Formats: sequence, C-alpha cells, structure tokens
Amino acid sequence: MSELDLPVSSTPNARDAVRALRPSQIREVANAGFGVEDVLPFWFGESDRVTPDFIRDAASAALAAGATFYTHNLGIAPLRAALAGYVSDLHGATSAEHIAVTSAGVNALMLAAQLVVGAGDRVVAVTPLWPNLVEIPKILGAHVETVALGYGERGWQLDVDQLLAALTPDTKMLMINSPNNPTGWVMSRDDQRTVLEHCRARGIWIVADEVYERLYYPDDASGARTAPSFLDLATRDERVICVNSFSKAWLMTGWRLGWIVAPTALMDDLAKLVEYNTSCAPSFVQQAGIAALEQGERFTQELVRDLKTSRDHLVRALSAVPGVDVKAPLGAMYLFFSMPGAASSLELCKAMVREVGLGVAPGSAFGPQGEGFVRWCYACDTARLDAGVERLRQFMARHGGV
Ligand SMILES: Cc1ncc(COP(=O)(O)O)c(C=O)c1O
Repeated sequence: MSELDLPVSSTPNARDAVRALRPSQIREVANAGFGVEDVLPFWFGESDRVTPDFIRDAASAALAAGATFYTHNLGIAPLRAALAGYVSDLHGATSAEHIAVTSAGVNALMLAAQLVVGAGDRVVAVTPLWPNLVEIPKILGAHVETVALGYGERGWQLDVDQLLAALTPDTKMLMINSPNNPTGWVMSRDDQRTVLEHCRARGIWIVADEVYERLYYPDDASGARTAPSFLDLATRDERVICVNSFSKAWLMTGWRLGWIVAPTALMDDLAKLVEYNTSCAPSFVQQAGIAALEQGERFTQELVRDLKTSRDHLVRALSAVPGVDVKAPLGAMYLFFSMPGAASSLELCKAMVREVGLGVAPGSAFGPQGEGFVRWCYACDTARLDAGVERLRQFMARHGGV
C-alpha cells in the first residue's frame, strides 16, 4: 500500500484552541447588513477620513525611491530612532534599543504574547475588551481569566483590589488596554502604580495596549498630550511590554504599522519572532511612519480636538433619546452605552442595521461583561452622527421605545 492509499483518519480540522476562538460579532452584524443599501457604519474602530497627505506623500516618495525590500526584523534604524524620540518626549528617556517596529498593533500584541506565554499559562485581562487581547493568548494555549470593569454613576470604573486579587503569583501576564476599547475607560496613574508594584513583586508581565494613548480628553486643565502610561512609571528593563500603533493617532489603519517598547533583554528573541511571523513591516510604510512622527504632531492634536467635539456632540444627542444611558468617557473614540433592547445586543444591532441602516457594534462582542451595551465609534463629523441618532430614534419609534 502506498502512502497515498492511507485512509483519512478524521476531518481536516484546525487545532482545538483555534476552533474554540470566538468569531467576531461585529462582522456578524456587518454581514447582517449586506444588501442594505444605505448603511451608516459606526461599528468599526476607525475614522471615516483618509490618512493625511504628508504621510501618503512620504509613502509615495519612498516607493518611487525604491523602498521595496525587506528591512531589519526590528525596523529601519531611522524609524526606531524617531520612535525613541517620540516615546522619550511623551514618557521619558527611551532608546532605540528598546523599540521594535511591528506590522501594526494587533501584530505587536501577538508578538508580545508569543514572547511570554505558552500552553497552560494563566493570563489575566480587564474587560469589556477588544476581543483580540483575550483571543490571542488562547491561540497559544493559555487560559485567560477576566476581571470586569463596573458601570455606575461615574461611568466605567476598575475595582483595583479585585484586579490585584486575580493577579496571583502563578499568573504569567496581565493584558490591559487603556484608554480602553470599547468603554473609553482610562486607567488612573495611581491604579497603574499599584498594579505595577504588585506585578513587579510577583514577576508578572504587563502587556499594556496603549494604542489609544493620544485619544485622551482629560476633564481637568492639565493639557496632557497622552493618557497615563505604564511607561511613565516603569523602568525600561522590567517586565513591561508596551504596544502601540500608527493606526489611531495618524489615521493609518490600513497601513499596518505599529511598535513595541520592551526590555533590551527581549530584543534578540523578539527579532526571531518577527522573522517567523512577518519578517519585517513593509519598507515604504516604515518610511511613511517617520513622516508621521516628524511632521504629525499638529495633525494629531487637531484630530484629538475634533474627536472631543464629536464625543461631546454624540453624548448630548444620545442623552436626549429616552431610555439611553450614556456617559462621556475620558479616552479612545467610542461611546459604550445602554439602551432599550440591548440586553440581547447582538440581535438588537442586527435588527438596527437591517431595519434602519444603523451600523453599531454589540456589547457582547467585547465579552459577556459587555452585554447590555452598544458601541458607537464617533470618529466622524457631527452631521453624520446626527443622521445616525435620527435612525436610532426611528428604530425605537418603530418598536415602541423597544
Ligand atoms: C485596543 C486595541 N488594541 C489594538 C488595536 C490594533 O490596531 P492596529 O492593529 O490597527 O494597530 C486596536 C484596533 O482597533 C484596538 O482597539
């Protein structure tokens, strides 16, 4: 009998850990909207504006100049240097040896997880949360325990004692995202200090997803350019890996460019992981990243002003809708609010897109703790937001207030 005649022993399935991953419920809602002609999409985490010209021009110039080859695994030296300058400016001295360029934030999260967790490891994550942070460690065979933010008068809040209790000595990694997608919650500097000291004493890695750090709207007069960051408190050579991205602060979601700040002791191993994942971020995209960092500060500050205007506008408009409970969060670009019918948020969101062409994300997409809520990305102008709120009203009127 030749090898080819061997009986097929089972269905050619993926590994159990992969089969057990949760499919994206935001996609499920978007699919429910196929065929609906006029959808107003507020479901994805991106602005409706294109990347600014000076960044697109830099990419075109880099392509014209032949930046089409592989680069160093950790990124081209001028981009690493520019990132070191940018991070130092915001968070204190950081050298290029602590920086790795990645193919956007989600790849940075995967690399960070691959660096420190393996099968059977215990990981803790604070939820509701963009699902990738919870699913990525599971791909590697880790167990993820969640600690839920609570929702009350002051919006979403962390019970830090509850988090500390979950961070037992056998925990390998804490994955924490602030400013948070979907809630907009921003971790306070005091809570960061408490958690850092706790993890430091127990050798627990902190993977801090700070891709929304610039999208921060402090309600004091501090004029802070960035949300509190673990980088403000940690030394550069302890167990803290900070993940960031060009996607949000420079509107570069489709470019796939991000970075990691990590201890130098990790860098050789990180370079190997980059080699075996993507080998490097695209060469001309890295050149465009330099332009974003060197010329983009004014753009980012204007973007944040616009986003704050949109946030306030949408909070006002939604607050006027009977039954909607919404609060203005301090960061990111989402409102995560409750409304009648949201107890089955997936069904509600599917019905809204089908019936009135309103595209928002179900809270349950962000874990069971998100059920009862709906996420609305407000990164667009106020007229579009008004049109969306009008559709929400129509939907509620049709369903008798739902
Ligand atoms: C919390 C969080 N982390 C990371 C990312 C990754 O972004 P990107 O891969 O575009 O850099 C996102 C994107 O929405 C996000 O919401």
